[in-house]
Amino acid sequence: MSTPSTPPNLDKIISSLKAGTTKKILILTGAGLSTTSGLPDFRSPKSGLYAKLSPLQLPYPEALFHISYFKHTPEPFYAVARARHPGNAVPSLAHAFLSLLERKGVLRFVVTQNVDGLEGDAGVSKDKVLNVHGTWGTQRCLKCRAPYPDVKMKEAILAGEVPICDQDGCGGTVKPDIVMFGESLPEEFEDVERNILPEADLLLVMGTSLKVAPVSELPRKVGASVPRVLINNERVGDFGARDIDVLLLGGCDDGVREIARGLGWEEELEALHREAVERKEIIAREEGWNDKEEGPSLDECIAKAAEKMKMRMGVSEGHRRMLEGHLGEKLRGILKRDT
Ligand code: OAD
Repeated sequence: MSTPSTPPNLDKIISSLKAGTTKKILILTGAGLSTTSGLPDFRSPKSGLYAKLSPLQLPYPEALFHISYFKHTPEPFYAVARARHPGNAVPSLAHAFLSLLERKGVLRFVVTQNVDGLEGDAGVSKDKVLNVHGTWGTQRCLKCRAPYPDVKMKEAILAGEVPICDQDGCGGTVKPDIVMFGESLPEEFEDVERNILPEADLLLVMGTSLKVAPVSELPRKVGASVPRVLINNERVGDFGARDIDVLLLGGCDDGVREIARGLGWEEELEALHREAVERKEIIAREEGWNDKEEGPSLDECIAKAAEKMKMRMGVSEGHRRMLEGHLGEKLRGILKRDT
């Protein structure tokens, strides 16, 4: 294995971008891209969502996003939705970098596992992005499939309540159009693998643990001569296994800043970021999402949900005991009669 973190390789990439020979960058992103936007990731040991869920007593952390679990117990999902919803989150510098690459004509495509839509908020064109795990943008009833109004969805998320279908006599649970575990990825993902990946001349992977297939397989499928850059807190996947790999271990925002500086694009990146933040703040205000400071934190959301579920379980536990007592009496009665 080669030594990770190879600035000479980064220099080569920067020179190639300057010379116009690198012009079809494929980007793969994950939750780490949005942590500086205030949205916690999943698997970071202390701050990640999965590390905080124990009060909810889920069978396993990912159950929160498993379609089978959601179908019968959607409460935990909606309890934490508020803290993970992008309504009032603003794009990070790394999101703005994607937009800058598009502006420079070198962005081939972005595959993101994120459902927050922040790359769009940063200005990246819709046709350049595949939200491979869906987005929060739309929602529908699981039972009758009817779309559910945005306004009502927002009310439910802010209240931490499960939205229920408003079609006559339906009463089904509403689910955002995100792809949960146990659901199929959009067909476009195959198109990425078949048509976009083979023509990419650079792969940039940012803010993902590469723990979830099939997206996690993408970096291995890139041609051996294609440079791969990882910007992430830690080394993930098989990064570092190829001599031409570049590992920028640390924050996504720091990593993109380093590349932008090398290209002489730093000021433009900062300006693009400022514009994107201002734009999103206006939208968030117009759409009525509260200020982050005013909303409950992830820990508070989880504590509240745990309390609610405990009460529910407490009620059903009491009910169970009462029934047991009642049945016990009856059973004793039957036994008495029999003897
Ligand atoms: P993870 O939480 O698994 O991984 C995030 C990665 O980003 C970790 O390696 C972090 O160390 C790193 N990271 C966090 N903040 C960072 C920052 N500011 N700069 C650089 N690196 C940072 O998130 P994903 O890989 O996106 O799926 O998770 C993949 C999928 O698993 C998600 O789409 C979701 C989840 O379960 C579903 O819910 C279906």
